[in-house]
Amino acid sequence: MSEKTLAIIKPDAVKKRVIGKIMSRIEDEGFSIHELRMRSLTKEDAEGFYAVHRDKIFFSDLTDFMSSGPIVTMVLERENAIKHWRAVMGATNPAEAAPGTIRRNYGFSIERNATHGSDAPETAAFEIDHFSKK
Ligand code: CMP
Repeated sequence: MSEKTLAIIKPDAVKKRVIGKIMSRIEDEGFSIHELRMRSLTKEDAEGFYAVHRDKIFFSDLTDFMSSGPIVTMVLERENAIKHWRAVMGATNPAEAAPGTIRRNYGFSIERNATHGSDAPETAAFEIDHFSKK
C-alpha cells in the first residue's frame, strides 16, 4: 500500500550544492515527489516543526541551524515510504550511517546531517500537515 512521508534537504546540503544528487537518489528509489518547495524557516517555524524535541538539550542548536538558510521540503510517496526513506538516509549520525546512504555521503555531523525524514505514521501526518498549510 502506498504511503507518504515528509522529507527535508537541510541547510548544510543546500549550501553544499547537493540538492540535485539527493533528488536524483529519491527518484531512483522509486518515490513520487509531491509538494516540492524551497523555503526558509524562521526560528519559530523550526521550533513548531521540531516541537516533539522541545525538551532535548540540542533543541536550541537544532532550531538555530534549521533556520540558518534555505531548505527543500517535499512529500515522498511509495510503498513503505517512511521506513524506506529512513533506510536511504541512514543513521542520524553520519559517522554511524552505512556506506552509500545519503547521510554518510553528504552529512557532516549529527546536527548537519543533510536530510530529515518522518519517523512514524503519526509524525508523517503532523509534518506533512505542518508544511502544507504554509
Ligand atoms: P532529524 O531526523 O532532523 O530529527 C531531529 C534532529 O535533531 C536530528 O535529525 C539531528 O539532526 C538533530 N540532533 C542534534 N543533536 C542530536 C542528538 N544528540 N541526538 C539526536 N538528534 C540530534
